[in-house]
Amino acid sequence: MSKEFEFKKWSPSLHEINQVRISRRAALKGIAGAAAAGLIPAASAKARQSSPGAASNPEGFISTLTFPELERKVDADHHVAKGYRADVVVRWGDTIQGKPRPFDPANLDVRDQSHQFGYNCDFIAFFPLPQGSDQTEDTNHGLLCVNHEYTNPYLMWSGLTHQDRLNLSKIQCDYEMTAHGHSVVEVKKLNGKWTVAQDYGLSRRISVFTPQIQVSGPAGGHRRLRTGGDPTGMIVNGTLNNCAGGVTPWGTILIAEENFNKYFTGDLAKTGESQNFRRYNILPEYREYCWWKYYDQFNFDIEPHEPNRFGWMVEFDPYEPEVPLVKRTALGRLKHEGATVALNHDGRIVVYTGDDEANEYMYRYVSKNTYVPGDIGRNRLLLDEGVLYVGKFEADGTMRWLPLVWNNGPLNNDNGFVDQGDVLIETRRSADLMGATPLDRTEEVEVSPVTGRVYAMLTENAGRTPERVDAVNPRAHNKYGHVVELIPPGAGAGKVDHTAETYEWNIFLKAGDPFDSAQGAEYNAGVTKNGWIACPDNAVFDRKGRLWICTDHGTTDGDTTNPDGIWATDTVGGGKALTRMFYAGPIGSELTGPCFTPDNRTLFASVQHPGETHHSTFDSPSTRWPDFKDGMPPRPSVVAIQKEDGGEFGS
Ligand code: FEO
Ligand code: CA
Ligand code: CA
Ligand code: CA
Repeated sequence: MSKEFEFKKWSPSLHEINQVRISRRAALKGIAGAAAAGLIPAASAKARQSSPGAASNPEGFISTLTFPELERKVDADHHVAKGYRADVVVRWGDTIQGKPRPFDPANLDVRDQSHQFGYNCDFIAFFPLPQGSDQTEDTNHGLLCVNHEYTNPYLMWSGLTHQDRLNLSKIQCDYEMTAHGHSVVEVKKLNGKWTVAQDYGLSRRISVFTPQIQVSGPAGGHRRLRTGGDPTGMIVNGTLNNCAGGVTPWGTILIAEENFNKYFTGDLAKTGESQNFRRYNILPEYREYCWWKYYDQFNFDIEPHEPNRFGWMVEFDPYEPEVPLVKRTALGRLKHEGATVALNHDGRIVVYTGDDEANEYMYRYVSKNTYVPGDIGRNRLLLDEGVLYVGKFEADGTMRWLPLVWNNGPLNNDNGFVDQGDVLIETRRSADLMGATPLDRTEEVEVSPVTGRVYAMLTENAGRTPERVDAVNPRAHNKYGHVVELIPPGAGAGKVDHTAETYEWNIFLKAGDPFDSAQGAEYNAGVTKNGWIACPDNAVFDRKGRLWICTDHGTTDGDTTNPDGIWATDTVGGGKALTRMFYAGPIGSELTGPCFTPDNRTLFASVQHPGETHHSTFDSPSTRWPDFKDGMPPRPSVVAIQKEDGGEFGS
């Protein structure tokens, strides 16, 4: 059976979607309301509440995901559903390049860190070795490309408290800067277990000290990117706060620069960029690093344009260490969460990206030219020439993509935009002027490989006031977030048009606890007490089109009853929006960067910031995962989750 035929069978029409909406609402009103609506027999609703772990129930809400659900709980260790195992592959401080040296947390060494796996791992991509090998049936060797988003000094050094992060020594700052960025780690499967290897000599670190990162696209060389150290405005030192990312069809990786505002200092009254810097919250109250004490790069009193050189999407080729990294400015300057690439039916490249801050926007880039397999020179320019769009959501279930193009509408001289570089440097203000829809913090945006529908994780916006509620942000004080489904024309019909001006959209689920009616959560009525999610963040599709969602609810607010981890759901059929609990991270962690191997037999995921809880420190951490040894702090790590019988995920 072809994928397209399979999809048509399962794809609900808009009428059916509305029916599901009605039945979900009724189910969540409780037994009386549902029974009154004639949709769900009272006995069945009762059965649902008392049978956690069931993959189906008498109403016919049947998931294609057959693993037994994990029990919702938080403790010092991680846990995975029965029938699967989770092994640590690589930890902060493990040598990935050169002669292995034991990790010594009492003597953190900058030179060692430049060959070791960095801190707070995030996005993961897998590239097979040898390059070009088809590992769709059996994946056994490759490059694991992993982002390192930020650092938690109070969990890295003895004697520090949470308040000390702005009072670090130069050596500590150098260490932080080296622990940021990205690791390319060669891994191979030996006797069923993934281990770090160095057969190909391609493992390496990228960090804030990586020199000669090129700047391309309309803002490359722009007057507002020129500095004392780089009068060309085309060569930047370093990349930072690398959160999520994406992979291109031509075999490169995109790594996002997210919360770049936290690294800079200076007097806003003295800069000509104050409007711009304010719009990105480059403000004292957001500052979390003191690198500016030792490096002028982070002091805009001295280098007024440096903040304009961050907040971009960075591309590089993991197989070609000699080729410089490139900041692709055509994709906009914002707090990029990720960059999910779709190959449109006509060969054009589309990149979906979210701006992860409350009341910011969702973006889409469309290349001017088409992808030609094997034509590396042509393909590497696809992310330089194209149009960036921002999303506007209407209450009638349609949405429009508004082009951020110089001289289009208000994006002109009158508003201070002299060229397209200005539009991109101030992407957020451009989007404001175009009338985009502010959202409840867009984290990852993913495309179903089966249906072509697009799913945006809106993680939370507790600060949304009742007056600002709208159709696509339907809850005030949205503590738990929701998932929005975007439907490009042709989705499910084989020729999905990811370049169209207009899409349809609807709310896929509203997160939170559906058993507490005050929260206003909405799911498939089959969701159990373990299955509901809080604060969807990163996500990935398996090749059968099931969505695996990582959460970032956090335990810093003192709620240690609700773990962060991984949940999975169908996006069509009877298991649509039926999230099921699969994996729980150790206390204080969030799960990030989920990545399936080409054979869909391993799910790699980053366990980010284990032990990040109130009062947790290096000296007294809330967990010592994964080593559980005295004196060893918690270590951000990548885990490999596999089925114990070696089978494909969800089989
Ligand atoms: Fe780095 Fe938006 O998470
Ligand atoms: Ca995230
Ligand atoms: Ca998050
Ligand atoms: Ca994070």
